[in-house]
Amino acid sequence: MEEALLRLKSEAEADLASLNSTQGIEPFRVKYLGRKSEFSSLMRSLGEVSPEDRPRLGQLANAVKQEIEKKFILKKEQIEEGADDAGGIPETDLSLPGRYVPFGKLHPVTQIMEEICSIFEGMGFGVAEGPDVETDFYNFEALNIPPHHPARDMHDTFYVNDSILLRTHTSPMQARIMENQEPPLRMIAPGKVYRCDSDITHTPMFHQVEGFLVDKKVSFSDLRGVLGVFIARMFDEETAIRARPSFFPFTEPSAEIDIACVMCRGKGCRVCKHTGWLEILGAGMIDPEVFKMVGYDPEEYSGFAFGLGVERIAMLKYGINDIRLYYENDLRFLSQF
Ligand code: FA5
Repeated sequence: MEEALLRLKSEAEADLASLNSTQGIEPFRVKYLGRKSEFSSLMRSLGEVSPEDRPRLGQLANAVKQEIEKKFILKKEQIEEGADDAGGIPETDLSLPGRYVPFGKLHPVTQIMEEICSIFEGMGFGVAEGPDVETDFYNFEALNIPPHHPARDMHDTFYVNDSILLRTHTSPMQARIMENQEPPLRMIAPGKVYRCDSDITHTPMFHQVEGFLVDKKVSFSDLRGVLGVFIARMFDEETAIRARPSFFPFTEPSAEIDIACVMCRGKGCRVCKHTGWLEILGAGMIDPEVFKMVGYDPEEYSGFAFGLGVERIAMLKYGINDIRLYYENDLRFLSQF
């Protein structure tokens, strides 16, 4: 009986190998797996085998049956998938278009973020990242914004509890890096920031790149020089820039840097709120109070810092007039970049 089972198995495998049309499927099934097949009569005769041999032969018979069934189902699927009208397996038609393989792309904001970082890296800045969930101390106090200071109103903060919050800017990275490293320092810190704010130029989550440089005898003209090189490389040499006096508790003096609105070329439109200018970053000379907080001597060291809005730069670069488009996940929009 063992011999008969193994013979049937190899015959079935040989027949399967030459099976190549839908017409051959049913006769194969009847011959090897049907009720009147030789295999079925072998199974029935198991009852006549001696009780000692029965378990072993029963197991072998089941294994052979399962093997034939498995290979038969696989072959049947292959034939049915590729069968032409006449039931034969067609040759591969090389003129048919290939299968579409979808592939992803980097989000436009990520692309701009990488471009910004590589411009500053080219000027010798190192890159560091910090936590999105930040303490009140690093987000405000270490930056010379004590509790109840009116400057806290500039940021609509998402609080987790009294002392933990979603960072409202990347400036906490100034304090985090300076308290662990000695000058001279030249760093940027890219990342996500959060504010309860939403309109065509504001989103509740957006990206900033913080930058700062600390050394002996650093002046405001160094800041102007570094930002000038950045804007010329990011946009072009002709892009008009202006610095407006501003206020940040952690820089003194402080400025906001605007570039000419690329939507209306400075004439005034909805995006630039009819001013002709778009604010892209805040900057200034690091306040001596911040240096004292991290243990630097403000008599010996000076430095500048800036924080730029990545989405704003991406809007200007790509001519997008509504910042919210970046976060609607519409592939028709995202696939254009
Ligand atoms: C700050 O966040 C300061 N930390 C920047 C700074 C760093 C000043 C170092 C001095 C020294 P401000 O709130 O202005 O500043 O934001 C910086 C930039 O982020 C803005 O110029 C703007 O481009 C962008 N920005 C601000 N709010 C939003 C928002 N809700 N959505 C998108 N971009 C925003």
